[in-house]
Amino acid sequence: MIPESVLNQIQERVDIVETVSAYVPLKRAGRSFKANCPFHHEKSPSFIVNPDKQIFHCFGCGVGGNVFSFLMKIERKDFREVVEELADRVGVELPKDPKRPVESDAERDLVRANTAAAEYYHRVLMSDPVSEKARAYLDRRGVRKEVLEAFRIGYAPEAWDAFYKHARQAGLAEPLLEKAGLLVKGKNGGWYDRFRARVIFPILDGKGRVVALGGRVLDDSVPKYLNSPETEIYHKGRQLYGLYQARPAIREADAVAVVEGYMDLIACHEAGVKYAVATLGTALTPDQVRLLKRNTHNAYILYDADKAGEAATLRGLELFLEEGMDVRIVRLPEGHDPDSYVRKNGAEGFRAEIAKARSLFEYKLGLLKTSHDPSTLDGKVRIAQEMVGLFAKAKSEILKAAWVKELSQELKLSEQALLTELGRSTAARTARTAEKSAAADGPAEARSAEPAKGLPRQAERLLLSLLLEDDRYVAESRRELRLTDFYHPVARRLVQILWEADERGARQEARGLVTKLQDDPECVKLLTLTTAESETIIDRDRSFTDCVKRLKALRLDGEHRSLRQELAEAQKLGDQNRVNRILYDMNELNKRMKEIHEKKDKR
Ligand code: GTP
Ligand code: MN
Repeated sequence: MIPESVLNQIQERVDIVETVSAYVPLKRAGRSFKANCPFHHEKSPSFIVNPDKQIFHCFGCGVGGNVFSFLMKIERKDFREVVEELADRVGVELPKDPKRPVESDAERDLVRANTAAAEYYHRVLMSDPVSEKARAYLDRRGVRKEVLEAFRIGYAPEAWDAFYKHARQAGLAEPLLEKAGLLVKGKNGGWYDRFRARVIFPILDGKGRVVALGGRVLDDSVPKYLNSPETEIYHKGRQLYGLYQARPAIREADAVAVVEGYMDLIACHEAGVKYAVATLGTALTPDQVRLLKRNTHNAYILYDADKAGEAATLRGLELFLEEGMDVRIVRLPEGHDPDSYVRKNGAEGFRAEIAKARSLFEYKLGLLKTSHDPSTLDGKVRIAQEMVGLFAKAKSEILKAAWVKELSQELKLSEQALLTELGRSTAARTARTAEKSAAADGPAEARSAEPAKGLPRQAERLLLSLLLEDDRYVAESRRELRLTDFYHPVARRLVQILWEADERGARQEARGLVTKLQDDPECVKLLTLTTAESETIIDRDRSFTDCVKRLKALRLDGEHRSLRQELAEAQKLGDQNRVNRILYDMNELNKRMKEIHEKKDKR
């Protein structure tokens, strides 16, 4: 966690108007600035930047936030990255994060060992005569020098101790090298190199550190590939080969091509398709999908034709859907893998295949049609059930609706029947997830927030925007109202934060609030919406008193309603004492209601 004071310091030195205008041309509109929203397609501007509050909001798609959220969204970076970059730009020093452990000694040593090995093998490949065969091999496969350099590809000579000798000179200890999977202890207690007579592919992590190696034989011997073992710095399911090098291109293209093998990835780069990463033969994991999602929301999967039909593959593809990403499947012509294909057809051919990519919908339907006969009722039902199971995983309701429609046309089944089936499937899914998370972290109801239905009442919204504008209103509203007067759960939460700050004698600025609430998109949305709306208020004091009155009146209405209910009950039971008491209360209530309304008339 970065302290709020430091975040404020950064925000004081950064102007959101200036930052945003580096991406979209802004036009002045009253106290704010307007533009066409960069986050959705629109023809007339509904994207507002407010220089006073240092926040933005789009009335079209509902996104909003402060300068940090803007950069996170547009650059697809995470919070920490954005803060680090801005801090650097404006000269604010960030404190070391105690919760984010600095690289431990063990990690640093492992990186040192892996780096030493990668550098050594790379040097051998590039300049040692023992690498002649390896260079010829790579040459035959069309890997040019530039790519050898960019990926620091190397060669481990055909010897038992080539690296071992080098490592000893470099002062690296045997137990460390063994842990890193670079050395193996022999039966007689001696050490020998694990990677021998193999082309070496260093695997880099997000920071560009060498965390593991992969090695390929030059011929048909087995195993074809040998990889480093998992260590503190290398978890195969959490890394993607080539991501570090591909990142700028992925962001630029706003797309990523996912291939399976080292050589597929290298070939893609060779052909100029630089937005590719490789999974290294294992099924995709949720962690890997999330890594990609930080950089783009569009994934293209290129697997060998034979692997593409496997259940594990389909499962991996559905992960993208669950993360709300758009995933498309590229089916290469029979007998091709990305390596052979891109070599034969180049970047042009590759782009053409990408353009022909099929959606997950088409892809899964295609697979199902090969195993069930869609001309029979039974086959249709099976296909529909499987497909609906897929729809239930989609995050977007719009996408679900579109798919339901498409499937109903495809199978000639009614949309209604499919929707019912989808409802069932979604319910089953929700129950499963609830069970899972309940088992993981205690009772579900403790965590589930009250659902926010629609927007808060006009008076609540207006009041909220005034509170965000002026501390005086925060203090006064705290005296005049109760938290429960705010009916909408999200509005209530925001008011609570503002009041708590006021209680501490602190001022809670809108932009800081956005940071605090960044895990709660509903809150941020309401916050930026109300702030953007506050532009239209003319007489602020007047609006404030009106809103307070309105909320009070609504509270009294509510009390009145429950008194009436109680009264009816007491009368039914013939409890005269209680009836009298209630009538007295109602009378008092009426007086208070009148007071409120009279005050209004006096103005
Ligand atoms: P080439 O045969 O050189 O074109 O390599 P490739 O990358 O196309 O290999 P392939 O399609 O056979 O396998 C895809 C990926 O699975 C490889 O890049 C490796 O990461 C992994 N893999 C393949 N064979 C082995 C193996 O024998 N052992 C291990 N650990 N991984 C393997
Ligand atoms: Mn291959």
